[in-house]
Amino acid sequence: MLQDSLPAHDALRHNTREIMKAAERAASLTGQMLAFSRKQIIAPVVLDLNAVIDETANMLKRLIGEDIEFRVDAAKSLWAIEADPDQIAQVLMNLCVNSRDAMPKGGALTVATGNVTVAEGSIDANPYIVPGDYVRLSVTDTGTGVSKKLQERIFEPFFTTKEVGKGTGLGLAMIYGIVKQSGGHVWVDSEPGQGACFTIYMPRARATVGPELSAKPETQPRGAEILLVVEDEDALREAMCDYLRSLGYTVLAANSGREALSVASEQGHIDLLITDVAMPKMSGRELSQMLRSLRPELKTIHMSGYTDDAVLRHGIQELGASFLQKPFSLGTLARKVRDTLGLPETKH
Ligand SMILES: Nc1ncnc2c1ncn2[C@@H]1O[C@H](COP(=O)(O)OP(=O)(O)O)[C@@H](O)[C@H]1O
Ligand SMILES: [Mg+2]
Repeated sequence: MLQDSLPAHDALRHNTREIMKAAERAASLTGQMLAFSRKQIIAPVVLDLNAVIDETANMLKRLIGEDIEFRVDAAKSLWAIEADPDQIAQVLMNLCVNSRDAMPKGGALTVATGNVTVAEGSIDANPYIVPGDYVRLSVTDTGTGVSKKLQERIFEPFFTTKEVGKGTGLGLAMIYGIVKQSGGHVWVDSEPGQGACFTIYMPRARATVGPELSAKPETQPRGAEILLVVEDEDALREAMCDYLRSLGYTVLAANSGREALSVASEQGHIDLLITDVAMPKMSGRELSQMLRSLRPELKTIHMSGYTDDAVLRHGIQELGASFLQKPFSLGTLARKVRDTLGLPETKH
């Protein structure tokens, strides 16, 4: 909302874009952690690794701080890989954060890419690699390094040498999982006191990178209907209500199922209920069932951050397209509301 209120060339737009990116990465990190414990569908696309590095470079620089020199050594005509861009950004971030932690007094960090052909019978650094074409990503630092004994364990989930509260031991385990999922390899070359070099080989994609989607801001569909937004997280509910009002809707708000029932009893007509699913006391599903038994014409959107909740899955099947996966952008919310309501009545 802040970004939309700034003029097109305002200098502050740079900052709002960084805030957006950080929020998106945070969402993707949460997704990663969910993926780590359950199974999550990833969205691999054919992509240019150099472009992902380019897009994340600013954030990486900020993460590692000013005491560490950040260099990118990107190979020209790099082959494409097939991967989920958020996951690749996640890999980069985890490697850079580890390098930062290994260089408390500063140093240098180099992110490099290259094309590698592993020939049949060749003696590569890693004997487990299947011969073929790979795209190499390496992150090299001048930090404390890793002893051979530790190298055997660092990719294990929850293995950390950092103090309680600092390390999770999940960074390298996630990287290992992501890389393996794509048929790639990851290993470390290091000597104590000599820095560390983490190398990843990702299989070359058969296809080439498609044309870029235009990043032009779209205008969102508006409306004048009456909406009831039920969400127990105050910040989210208020942001949603403000935004939907700015699109022309009349918006009623409630922070629980019980409050929603009382708001609804005082309101003559409601076109659409937008409700969180997981709420204490009364779930969004119970609420929508109760309201729909009183008002069969009421349309509903359920929102949730969980995808594999059994109750929710059944709910989605039953209620058709009325599901909104959290986190969502404001644009997604606007389109979902319009889609669920149907086309606005045209005035003659
Ligand atoms: N660049 C590096 N230099 C030195 N040690 C490293 C580096 N990267 C990872 N490590 C070692 O591997 C361990 C596991 O890393 P990771 O899985 O990312 O978990 P965490 O960073 O939370 O400890 C770290 O605690 C550290 O001992
Ligand atoms: Mg780490």
